Amino acid sequence: MNDTQPAILATNLTKCFGDFTAVDNINFAVRRGEIFGFLGPNGSGKTTSIRMLLGLMKPTSGSVEVLGMKVDGDTAKTRPRVGYMSQRFSLYNDLTVLQNLHFYGAAYGLKNSELQIRINEALSMAGLEGRENAKTRELSGGWRQRLALSAAILHRPEVLFLDEPTAGVDPLSRRAFWDLLYTLVSRPISEGNGAMPAGQGSVTVFVTTHYMDEAEHCHRLAFIQHGKIIANGSSAEIKAEKMPGQVLEIAPSDAASAVKVLRAANLPLHEIELYGALVHVIAPDVRRHETAIRAALRSSGIQPGSMTVIEPSLEDVFIACMKS
Ligand SMILES: Nc1ncnc2c1ncn2[C@@H]1O[C@H](COP(=O)(O)OP(=O)(O)OP(=O)(O)O)[C@@H](O)[C@H]1O
Ligand SMILES: [Mg+2]
Repeated sequence: MNDTQPAILATNLTKCFGDFTAVDNINFAVRRGEIFGFLGPNGSGKTTSIRMLLGLMKPTSGSVEVLGMKVDGDTAKTRPRVGYMSQRFSLYNDLTVLQNLHFYGAAYGLKNSELQIRINEALSMAGLEGRENAKTRELSGGWRQRLALSAAILHRPEVLFLDEPTAGVDPLSRRAFWDLLYTLVSRPISEGNGAMPAGQGSVTVFVTTHYMDEAEHCHRLAFIQHGKIIANGSSAEIKAEKMPGQVLEIAPSDAASAVKVLRAANLPLHEIELYGALVHVIAPDVRRHETAIRAALRSSGIQPGSMTVIEPSLEDVFIACMKS
């Protein structure tokens, strides 16, 4: 494959289960060496898409190319060059960290000194040194996730598919996991003992997540809803294209009640959302509604507090996209 060829290319990809369309004619290209985030609510079609990209599930129609190879519901060609951490990743809880890595390494056909080198590399990358003999079930969620990632990259894949890899782990562990991902994408895979052909670039990561802070860390993103891609591009591009106005951040005395009052007030606002102890209101030229917002809040006994026009977060855009 050449440098300009995408690492992953989905063309009119569709999956139907009976008369239900889980993935509906999606198109996107993931560039080599980027972290591509796939965001969508529960049941929107993320895992189904990943399974088709991997060749684990045959599409109803459309096609997938990975590293320039047609996938077509078949894993044989791409398997040695891709890694997969599934949503319910399958580590053996009764085995130790080292035994799990040996098991996965052997499954990828790694043997003897090669296997040992790769395991040591993975242990060091994931910071699991010193925990080699810990039983997997005794590891915390964050460490188990790092072990699962280590197992998925033992064979030095060029493309890595991660399905909600940080679900349910604390913010510090999530940050540590993302630092690991950055290490992977910035490190040429031809490093180490030279198993990969030179000039093949770095790892490409396709990752699904529900966490907006993680999505901000992706080079590019796609939002999926009811099986359809509704936004695609860098975080800045999506914000510029999809934001139906400016965001006014309000700090009222009672944010939850303020949301109810403003929703009932029938002002011409696109969005009124609770944002922690704040309220985000979205509308074109939002400042011109400030007086009406203050009046509505005061008449319900709520102190309006400060009102500031802020840069939209990806969460603002995501919510706006999901509702439009
Ligand atoms: N084998 C199947 N048979 C029938 N319906 C299925 C099958 N697999 C998935 N679905 C349905 O397809 C839709 C998409 O499911 P999918 O698992 O891809 O969603 P998801 O975006 O990964 O959700 P989550 O965030 O909960 O993991 C859901 O409505 C699901 O019930
Ligand atoms: Mg899923």
